[in-house]
Amino acid sequence: MANTPRFTTETEIAAGPSILQDERHHTMIFHTEFTVRIEPKGWTFTTPEAVPLLEAARRSAINLPSSCRNGTCRTCMCRLLSGQIRYQIEWPGLSSDEKKDGYILPCIAYAQSDLVIEEPRAAALPASG
Ligand code: FES
Repeated sequence: MANTPRFTTETEIAAGPSILQDERHHTMIFHTEFTVRIEPKGWTFTTPEAVPLLEAARRSAINLPSSCRNGTCRTCMCRLLSGQIRYQIEWPGLSSDEKKDGYILPCIAYAQSDLVIEEPRAAALPASG
């Protein structure tokens, strides 16, 4: 599902590069989703490019370790094995060596491509409803 565009209404959480209107003048937001695989379990989830990885995993009933959720505590730190991410803050709480070694903070990381991350602590959330 790499780079699979879809349309969503403005009532959904979305932020994309293009805003369109349909024939009934509903605002439509065009954005991109990526697939994230979590090793070693091999689980996958889909993440919109505008949602942090931690939150996207939670929406797919996958719990990744976290605490502060703002890039300071490093509880969520895990390795990015492949793919590209971006941060919305200038300097996330990682050393340059950690960044070179592929460590990321999924609570504030946004996918820019399909990803493979290494997080042995990933756990399934109980089914809701
Ligand atoms: S949860 Fe604290 S840095 Fe990610």
